[in-house]
Amino acid sequence: MQNIVKRLMTLVSVVLGLSFILGAFPTTVQAEDLIVVGFSQVGAESDWRTANTKSMQDTFVEANGYRLIFDDAQQKQENQITAIRNFIQQEVDYIVLAPVTETGWDTVLQEAQDAAIPVIIVDRMIDVSDDALFTTWVGSDFKLEGDKAVEWMVETQAEELKIVHLQGTIGSSAQIGRTQGLEEGVEANQGWEIIAQQTGEFTQAKGQEVMESILKQHDDIDVVYAENDNMAFGAIDAIEAAGKTVGVDGDIVVISFDATRAGLDATLAGKINYNVECNPLHGARVDALIQQLEAGEEVDKLAYVEEVTFDATTITQEDIDAREY
Ligand code: AHR
Repeated sequence: MQNIVKRLMTLVSVVLGLSFILGAFPTTVQAEDLIVVGFSQVGAESDWRTANTKSMQDTFVEANGYRLIFDDAQQKQENQITAIRNFIQQEVDYIVLAPVTETGWDTVLQEAQDAAIPVIIVDRMIDVSDDALFTTWVGSDFKLEGDKAVEWMVETQAEELKIVHLQGTIGSSAQIGRTQGLEEGVEANQGWEIIAQQTGEFTQAKGQEVMESILKQHDDIDVVYAENDNMAFGAIDAIEAAGKTVGVDGDIVVISFDATRAGLDATLAGKINYNVECNPLHGARVDALIQQLEAGEEVDKLAYVEEVTFDATTITQEDIDAREY
């Protein structure tokens, strides 16, 4: 009897062992087949950034053949450099970088190149000594975004304008392009004057703080040109707290960038007069680039995303409902 029990137990442990091995083996093979992507994200400074992170995290999942290593740099370039070095150590298949600023990438990207890891730049651009340090870039034409806002001002606003300029993170492509657009507009339109120009670092809190202090110094503001929705929200709060009104029929015209869901709600409500889209849905675009590279195909060095604009006097709820983010 004891023998039978012993044999049965042996049989059970063999079956269990086999099923463990058989169960575990395919998982290991699948894990080895996954494309490992290290993504260094700027931070979580804005609604746009949150939508961008979601787009990347929703795309680079096991079901799509990926393993994502995500790093939030909290708006600090040194954190992004550390993250890239960690990705190199972990021998990822691709490094995806959303750079906080344009400069300062040469050394670390040289290290990635030495390790033969392709680097895909997303959203903002980088300024490196040798373009071979990155494989491809996909993002927005930030200068064009600024030009669109200026064109709208020329078409709809008075010839004399006192403008408050809330800038994004200084040295980021989004700030550089949108600032260049406005400054060229001021050069070309003699009655326009930038009466205050300060960074709100793309955050709502800083946008509000900066606007509060500007309102104490200026009582004659015609336009606030906020380089993103979150700074526009902060500026609107500050203006209203100071007893003034914003938007369509208001005391101060508000121009914003991003056209996030909350930004478009504020545009429909007439508080933001004009909102220039900056599209954050880069997950599928980066996925397509990686698939091309995996297939041994050539990819374009630069890919600009097409973007639209929204005017408070014409936007509808249907426009907002049709948006993906
Ligand atoms: O680089 C894109 C910009 O970064 C967006 O306009 C802003 O909201 C974000 O923080």
